[in-house]
Amino acid sequence: MSKFNNLPHLFEPIRIGRMDLKNRLVFSPVVSGHATIRDGEVTDNLVDFVGAQARTGVSRVAIGATPVDFGRARDFFGCLSVTRDTDIAGVRRLAEEVHRYDAKFSVELLHAGRIAQPEALAGRRAYVPWRAPDMDPERFMQVGETEMDEVITLFRAAARRLAEANVDEVLIHGAHGNFVSGFLSPATNQRTDNYGGSFENRARFPLRLLKAVREEVGTSLNIEYRISQNEYAENTITLEEVIAFLKEASKYIDSAHLSGGWIFDPNWIRKMMPSYCEPRCLNIERTAIIKNNLDIPVVAVGNITTAEAAEDILAKGQADVIAMARSILADMEFVKKAYRGDSAGVRPCLRCIECAARPAIGGGVRCAVNPLVGRETKYPALFRAEEKKKILIIGGGPAGMQAAQIACKRGHDVTLYEREPELGGRLKEASSLFKKDDTHKRYLDWDIAMTRSCGARIVCGVEVTPAVAAAEQPDIIINASGGLHIIPQIPGIDDPNVITVTEADLKTKLIGTKVVVMGGGISGLECAIQLAYEGHDVSIVDRLPMDKLWREVMNELRSGLIELKELYNVKLIDSAEIVALGDSGVEYRGADGISHFIKGDTYVSSFGITPNRDFNLAIRDVLPEVYVVGDAREASNIFWANMDAFNVAVEV
Ligand SMILES: Cc1cc2nc3c(=O)[nH]c(=O)nc-3n(C[C@H](O)[C@H](O)[C@H](O)COP(=O)(O)OP(=O)(O)OC[C@H]3O[C@@H](n4cnc5c(N)ncnc54)[C@H](O)[C@@H]3O)c2cc1C
Ligand SMILES: Cc1cc2nc3c(=O)[nH]c(=O)nc-3n(C[C@H](O)[C@H](O)[C@H](O)COP(=O)(O)O)c2cc1C
Ligand code: SF4
Repeated sequence: MSKFNNLPHLFEPIRIGRMDLKNRLVFSPVVSGHATIRDGEVTDNLVDFVGAQARTGVSRVAIGATPVDFGRARDFFGCLSVTRDTDIAGVRRLAEEVHRYDAKFSVELLHAGRIAQPEALAGRRAYVPWRAPDMDPERFMQVGETEMDEVITLFRAAARRLAEANVDEVLIHGAHGNFVSGFLSPATNQRTDNYGGSFENRARFPLRLLKAVREEVGTSLNIEYRISQNEYAENTITLEEVIAFLKEASKYIDSAHLSGGWIFDPNWIRKMMPSYCEPRCLNIERTAIIKNNLDIPVVAVGNITTAEAAEDILAKGQADVIAMARSILADMEFVKKAYRGDSAGVRPCLRCIECAARPAIGGGVRCAVNPLVGRETKYPALFRAEEKKKILIIGGGPAGMQAAQIACKRGHDVTLYEREPELGGRLKEASSLFKKDDTHKRYLDWDIAMTRSCGARIVCGVEVTPAVAAAEQPDIIINASGGLHIIPQIPGIDDPNVITVTEADLKTKLIGTKVVVMGGGISGLECAIQLAYEGHDVSIVDRLPMDKLWREVMNELRSGLIELKELYNVKLIDSAEIVALGDSGVEYRGADGISHFIKGDTYVSSFGITPNRDFNLAIRDVLPEVYVVGDAREASNIFWANMDAFNVAVEV
């Protein structure tokens, strides 16, 4: 037990197979999108990213979703290739970098199956264990023995290359409904031969695969198996079957990694990469039962957000090792701070899933609250400014606070003005949904505390005008003043019962029983859910059809918000153009072209945010060096507010 913290179980070493782990905290597999897109070759960016992961102090780093066949088995852009012997040298470079920080190195081998990228398939059909009647025969091919043998040969060859590259562990991806995991579940495997039907038959291919990989690598590599211990949908693998499978698999594997959900299903993906809508530690109940039934170590994962939560799981004997991805991405000092007993100083992850957005479309991983993530090559450190400058920051929202913290770290003389009595900006309303207490609300508090202690002079309650700005005599102005609510010029919009989404979220205006939210983007939706949760009768009216709504966030979050909307009975009138507000309520024209009305006691206007162009132009003329960041430049979200502000503050 260390005298520096109260986390004795978390920092206790463990031996698994041939691997000595220095503590119980490992990086959950992450596909970072840093390898070359065409060939999956190792790049400096990838080396620096895994190095940064290892430097955090975790005991093991795992590269995610590494396809065994760079054509048919790939699901992400920028994933690593281990499909050619010529890849070994690059992987060895990665292993060397991870080992440098006394961490072990694992590579997750994947066959994507039904979620293989169309670009990679290049006209070929995706392999699936079973082609359901609704799956297009032109796109999906139900495999026979020949293809199964082919896949096993590919896994064997990839595992051999990993052993030759000095990797410590091969993580076989048997979770989330990919090719291997698809065999096990009755929902994705209704074959009528030896590989479908009974549990023994469904388990046959994954077990054959594991046996073959063990034969290939002997004791030179640990083998971990990642499984969805709960697929959540109907007619999926049962807990008893998961236990029975892992008992049998224990002959070949060293540890079991218990994830959840399906990647191919826009609904159940929320259990795989849980957003702020999902419960904390959502997999632990089943994980504990599974652990009690197995003789091999068990790795727990999923929305484990603090070192204390991890310690609790370990102390209760519910798992042997804790895997985290996003909590550590959000603060790469997470482990060191926890070790030093400074968990309160950890920058909280928002569970917003912005990190997975870029690898999904071809780009390196990024984080909404930690702009350094994935950019370790460009920013190996925050260099001190060559010349100390006087910087005036206008606005204390996330962008202004980010700019202040970075500019101070770089040695500048910083003054931040915020017109409200307290810092926070729109982060305050962005934190109002009851599901965000552990994420956005915690981040808001953390951000304010860090800004207050960063060394900047903070002036709250004063509105900056060009005259105020000029009087400060700064060398540089960073305009982080946010935007204005868009108020469309529809008849009746000045009705006293119309309030903004900000006023509704912050409860600065009275809200009646029946509420109509006009404009159903993410902020309108969350406001509606919160009001319904508080007991109001809420309807949303939006011009978009339901299938086009809330597409600006990942499915993992979208599906969680839709579930909440339904749970709290928020009604949605979609494809409805609002034309006026009058005695009969909101008048909207539906897809039928006819006018309809919906009456409320309060109307919430949530039509979006737009930069304050007049203010921006006036401030631009104060000095030759003025930067506009965050919503003041282009209305967006916390990710872009932080990124924008960092990008300026890191270079001025
Ligand atoms: C209701 C709502 C919910 C949202 N929910 C989310 C969410 O869940 N996730 C997400 O990523 N994004 C969300 N957003 C968007 C996100 O909050 C913004 O993109 C982000 O706050 C922008 O940060 P910013 O610092 O650029 O601007 P702001 O947060 O708007 O901060 C600007 C600050 O400047 C101050 N200011 C303005 N003019 C002056 C002046 N002249 N002098 C001094 N101070 C001034 C303002 O008072 C304010 O504090 C939400 C937005 C709204 C409106
Ligand atoms: C950017 C990113 C990439 C991920 N890539 C993979 C992957 O390649 N393979 C995998 O099995 N899981 C992947 N995951 C899921 C994580 O391993 C983990 O199971 C999930 O994020 C839940 O853990 P957390 O709540 O600690 O983030 C990824 C997660 C993130 C955030
Ligand atoms: S992008 Fe969002 S979910 Fe991902 S690590 Fe950062 S804060 Fe967490």
